[in-house]
Amino acid sequence: MKRVDDFRLHFGKQELVPIVVGGMGVDISTADLALEVARLGGVGHISDAMLPTVSDRRYDTDFVKEKLLQYHYNIDNSNKAAVKFDLSQVAEATRLHVGHAMEAKRGSGMIFINCMEKLTMNAPRETLTVRLRSALDAGIDGITLAAGLHLGSFALMEDHPRFRDAKLGIIVSSLRALQLFLRKNARTNRLPDYIVVEGPLAGGHLGFGMDWAKYDLRTIVNEIHQYLQAEHLDIPVIPAGGIFTGSDAVSYLESGSAAVQVATRFTVAQECGLPKDVMQEYFKASESDIEVNTVSPTGYPMRMLKSCPAIGSGIRPGCESYGYLLDANGNCSYIDSYNREVAAHPEAKKVSVMDKTCLCTHMRNFKCWTCGHYTYRLKDTTHKLADGSYQVLSAEHIFRDYQFSIDNKVALPE
Ligand SMILES: Cc1cc2nc3c(=O)[nH]c(=O)nc-3n(C[C@H](O)[C@H](O)[C@H](O)COP(=O)(O)O)c2cc1C
Repeated sequence: MKRVDDFRLHFGKQELVPIVVGGMGVDISTADLALEVARLGGVGHISDAMLPTVSDRRYDTDFVKEKLLQYHYNIDNSNKAAVKFDLSQVAEATRLHVGHAMEAKRGSGMIFINCMEKLTMNAPRETLTVRLRSALDAGIDGITLAAGLHLGSFALMEDHPRFRDAKLGIIVSSLRALQLFLRKNARTNRLPDYIVVEGPLAGGHLGFGMDWAKYDLRTIVNEIHQYLQAEHLDIPVIPAGGIFTGSDAVSYLESGSAAVQVATRFTVAQECGLPKDVMQEYFKASESDIEVNTVSPTGYPMRMLKSCPAIGSGIRPGCESYGYLLDANGNCSYIDSYNREVAAHPEAKKVSVMDKTCLCTHMRNFKCWTCGHYTYRLKDTTHKLADGSYQVLSAEHIFRDYQFSIDNKVALPE
């Protein structure tokens, strides 16, 4: 019977343990988590979501305060078109975060950054360019293009000196999305170094509609394998979404996948950025506590715990401080929903907004508890303590469990 450790992920001459821990936005997949995964020989991700605010928290900068000061005059204005990011600050925040992680990296693994196209930041092309190029400047091993089709993203980095040496990959949820990506980026004469195929059981935003349950990861992975084979394209395929045990991973590795990308199991690791009380909510969750909803202003469905404070919250849009989801014209669907509720309840001190949420503020404050489908199984991966809480795990324990377990077993911690 095989285990994950019987396989290796190859990037050129480099050999890795075929376990990729996926990016989890707004510092849930911390540098500490990515560093631990790299030390153990796999691929860890940091995320470039909301890096100016992450930088303030971790590296003592004042980017959010400065942005708020500059745009304070606009807080009561529902038109946010004027609220722009200072590109030099976005670059500096990226360099700080990536630089910190890369300097601290030990071991034979790699650290990639997850870069979501849907963070349009009121100037999609300019801000994405800066984010991608600054990550390359700061020495990131690789960039995973996420949450969007990224039809023009390679071109934004094309003339960067590291464009051909850094590993560049794309997350897709269908063969069609992959074909589009390959066609539109062909002009740069560079193929992706890996393809993450994310199925409907993943955490975060889903690349499916609300009919997500009709889709199945294995079917999509098989379609993509067949297509790549027919086109004679030798690109590592990395399935993601619902791979909960080492044996789940082995079943993909045995049928030709190069590695697996996982995340949910690591949301309850000491090194993960979620506050410890929120980790307990993940542990406690039962299947019926988890839903896929449409409250994210991005327009993508998102899976989350039904009890999270982000759902129904009617806080004032935080665009003057954050504004990561403002589109090219300064619009965000939460602003519309919020204004509708305020207009409908002119006397109310507080409103409730059910159809959308202020994702920036709530992700920043760890109040949007996005999670994978199998979050309800996390309680079976640890011990329940005398006080009724669950024992938080080390990233090393979870990583090694994926790497060495057999028979669909999950090893409990010491
Ligand atoms: C809490 C959480 C946050 C996530 N945030 C992101 C993100 O910011 N960007 C992204 O591309 N994927 C995100 N994901 C998806 C993961 O990177 C990964 O592909 C997926 O969750 C793997 O499936 P699993 O959680 O069932 O192991 C997130 C997943 C979780 C659980």
